[in-house]
Amino acid sequence: MSYKLDLSQLQRDGDTSLTQQLVDRFSVAIEAGELEPGEKLPPTRALAAEAGINHLTAARVYRRLAELGYVTATVGRGTFVRSLVPAAGADGDDGWQSLALPDSPISYQSEIISDLFRLAAEPDVISLATGFVSPKTYPLAELSEVSAEVFEQDGEAALGYLTAEGVPALREQIAARGRKLGFASDPEEIIVTSGGQQAIDLVVRAVVGPDDVVALESPTFAGALACLRASGARLVGIPVDAQGMDVDALEQVLARNEVKLCVLQTACHNPTGADLSPERRERLARLAVERNFFILEDGVYSNVRFEGKPVSPLRQAAPGHVLYVNSLSKTVGGGLRIGWVAARGPVLDRVATLKLETDFFTAALTQHIAARWLARGGYERHVEATLPFYRERRDALMEALERHLAGEYRASSPRGGHHLWVTLNRSLDERALYSEAVRHGVAFTPGAAVTVERRSQTSMRLSFSLLDPEELDEGVRRLARAIRELRRRSRLSRAAPVS
Ligand SMILES: Cc1ncc(COP(=O)(O)O)c(C=O)c1O
Repeated sequence: MSYKLDLSQLQRDGDTSLTQQLVDRFSVAIEAGELEPGEKLPPTRALAAEAGINHLTAARVYRRLAELGYVTATVGRGTFVRSLVPAAGADGDDGWQSLALPDSPISYQSEIISDLFRLAAEPDVISLATGFVSPKTYPLAELSEVSAEVFEQDGEAALGYLTAEGVPALREQIAARGRKLGFASDPEEIIVTSGGQQAIDLVVRAVVGPDDVVALESPTFAGALACLRASGARLVGIPVDAQGMDVDALEQVLARNEVKLCVLQTACHNPTGADLSPERRERLARLAVERNFFILEDGVYSNVRFEGKPVSPLRQAAPGHVLYVNSLSKTVGGGLRIGWVAARGPVLDRVATLKLETDFFTAALTQHIAARWLARGGYERHVEATLPFYRERRDALMEALERHLAGEYRASSPRGGHHLWVTLNRSLDERALYSEAVRHGVAFTPGAAVTVERRSQTSMRLSFSLLDPEELDEGVRRLARAIRELRRRSRLSRAAPVS
C-alpha cells in the first residue's frame, strides 16, 4: 500500500458495490479529518491501481464524492477535498445541494440586483435603488384597448409559436424607428428579446468567450456587469465623464490588449445621465472599424431625455460592428419584457440561434400588443407625455440632496434617464454604508455594484423614477442620517483605546 488510506480491504463479492465501498471509505476519512480540506486525492489511474479496480469505477467514485459535496474536481488540476464537509442530514434538509452544485459564487452585482427587486416591495424601506418606470404613468387604458384588438384580430397568431426573431409586425415597427433615429435600416436586422437584459446577455454570449478582453464603461448598469462577469471575460473598466465614455482611455487599453467587445450606453447613461459626445462617437466608430472589435451599444434610456438634443446612435456610424440594444422597459413598463437587438451579418445569426436555444422566442402576445400600439403612434405620445413627470422627480432629488447633504457630495444633474450618480466628498466604507442605510429605512445602489474596478471614493446611484417628491426627500433625509451615524461610529472606533 502506497496511498495513506488503505484501500485494499474491499469485499469483491459482497452486496455493496465497489464504488459504494470506496465512496464510504473516502467520506469517512474526510469526515474524520484523516484527509484534510484542500488535500489532493490520487489521480483516477493511481486510485484504480491502488484499489485493484478499473479506471471507470475510480472515476465513478470521484464523481459520486463530488455529488455528495466531499470533493471538488478541476479539469487539468485534479480532485481535492472540499473545505466544507456536508453534515449528515435528514431527508428534507437541502443543505447538501449547495455542496453538490458546481462552484458558482453569486456576484456582488447579482446580490444587489436581487436586493433591489426585494426592497422595492418592502413598505418600510424607501428604495432609491430602483429605476423602474412609475406605475402612475402606465398607459393602462390604451394598452387594454389594444390588447382587446389583439385578441379579436390576431388571436391565433398571438397564442401560437413563432420564429426566434419575433413577430414581423413588431420588427417592422422597430425598424421604422431605427430608420428615423439611425440604429437600424431593415426589419431583418431586428431580433426581439425578452427585455434589454436578455438582449445584453445574448450579445455577450454571441461575441465573448472566457478570457477574452472586454472594455466596459465604468460606472455602468449592474445587469450588464453581472452578465459580463458570468461570461468569464477579463473586464477592463473605462471611465465615464460629462462627454460619456473616455475614448482616450479606451485607446490606451486597445494599445495593450486585443479587445473583443466594448460595452457602453451612448445616451442618457445609467447612472451618470451623460451622452457620448459626437466627437467621441465618431472616434469610437472609427476605432472599431480599424481594429475590428464589436461594440454593444445600449440605448435603453435614450428616449427618457429631459435636456439636450437626441444623440445619433453609434450604430449609424459603424453598422457592421455595433450591436444596438434597446427595450420598452424604461418608457412603458418592465413587465412587458419587450427588448431588441439590431445588428447584421454572422453575429446576428448567432444571436438568433442563442435566442432560440434560450427560450425559443419572446412571448408572442406582448409582441402583438406592442406592435399595434407602436403602429398607432401610442408609444411616442406616451413618452412625450411622461417626460415632465420624470423631470420633476429628478429636480426633486437634486433639491433633496442640497437640503440634507449640502457640501458633502458631488453630483451633476442628469440630462435624462432615471438615476443620479453621487460621490461623497469624504469616503466611507460603501458596504457598511449600504447596511446602515437599509437599517435607517432607505436603499441605494452602492457604487461597487456598478463599477468594474475597486475605487477609493464612495459613490452611489440614486434613482428617482419610482418615488414621489416627498418620498425622495424623506429617502435622502434617512440617507444623510445613515451617513452621519456611520461617520460618528468610525470616529468613535478610531478614538477607542487599543487594549
Ligand atoms: C442601462 C440598462 N440597460 C439595460 C437594462 C435592462 O432593461 P430591461 O428591463 O429591458 O431588461 C437596464 C435596466 O435597468 C438598464 O438600466
